[in-house]
Amino acid sequence: MPLIAVLPGDGIGPEVTREARRVLEALDLGLSFEEAPVGGAGYLASGHPLPDATLALAKRADAVLFGAIGDPRFEKLERHLRPEAALLGIRKALGLFANLRPATLFPGLEDASPLKPEVVNGLDIVIVRELIGDIYFGEKGHRTTPDGLRQGYDVMSYDEQEVTRIARVGFEMAKRRRKKLCSVDKANVLETSQLWRDVVTAMGAEYPEVELTHMYVDNAAMQLVRAPAAFDVIVTGNLFGDILSDQASMCAGSIGMLPSASLAAWSGANGMYEPIHGSAPDIAGQGKANPCAAILSAAMLLRHSLEDEASAQRIEKAVAAALAKGARTADLGGTLSTAAMGDAVLSELQ
Ligand code: NAI
Ligand code: MG
Repeated sequence: MPLIAVLPGDGIGPEVTREARRVLEALDLGLSFEEAPVGGAGYLASGHPLPDATLALAKRADAVLFGAIGDPRFEKLERHLRPEAALLGIRKALGLFANLRPATLFPGLEDASPLKPEVVNGLDIVIVRELIGDIYFGEKGHRTTPDGLRQGYDVMSYDEQEVTRIARVGFEMAKRRRKKLCSVDKANVLETSQLWRDVVTAMGAEYPEVELTHMYVDNAAMQLVRAPAAFDVIVTGNLFGDILSDQASMCAGSIGMLPSASLAAWSGANGMYEPIHGSAPDIAGQGKANPCAAILSAAMLLRHSLEDEASAQRIEKAVAAALAKGARTADLGGTLSTAAMGDAVLSELQ
């Protein structure tokens, strides 16, 4: 019986994760669920944002369903005690180097995007973001310059192996889709990007069926607004992927629509699945949050960790059907509560 670790976290995390779990339970796949606190909730329960028992559960489980972390009450704590430390810690501990962030425009949501309907029409892209390297994990600190000035520094680095494994995911993803891979870097300025481009280009020879292009990140930011639907798969580093995927969410109408998968291998392995949004303290506890990103993350869990493509598609079709009938939370211009949106998806599953 596959074990799903459920880590609801903070703010709207528990509200949206509840709906995702209800959808998984309704499919009757014989899954077992075990819940544990993480983030601010972990700190309150045990004095640490990533309690040992929570990490042990995540390691033991076949997959992790994650909500969101972040709690304004704990912002003043030291960095390693803040809720955000739990997220970086769990990604690193599970070796989740590949972050898949699909951005799809569901039919009927054309008007929800701040971009013109004709620009976002047909949007169906996947951003493959490297997740446990780059400037987020390099040496960092504060020091004083010889002139006596305070200086902060963060070191950006990638080795060949780190680039190779994420490039592989990008090519495999593109091969299964529309066979277009755009590698995003800043090779005109950065040494890490030079290496990145060399490795990706060399791997391209193994995938003659995939059309490989390279784009500088500043141009990619522009193209994502000018013609987002022209992309198929984008592969990029941790920092660039973080920024570009939030940007892409606006093409899909709302940040409440975007799921993600964080993987330690292409498929069949332990992975973590979570909406790309945070804990949204401004709407937490009000039953207003859109649970679609969490529900679609559950679909990705079935696809990548349990290799159950049919059930994944059942969930995605149910979300599409509910939206097509006009089910909308406030972020999409509607009035449904989180639970009512979950109900709307559940009733399409039958
Ligand atoms: P956020 O994603 O929590 O919220 C940004 C805006 O989007 C807010 O106005 C919020 O109400 C809205 N929003 C987000 N999710 C929504 C949903 N499902 N339905 C409707 N509206 C939604 O980002 P913010 O405000 O920058 O960060 C809040 C906290 O979350 C911080 O502590 C931050 O560190 C944390 N965070 C955690 C992440 C994670 O757990 N993966 C990712 C991003 C931020
Ligand atoms: Mg981000």
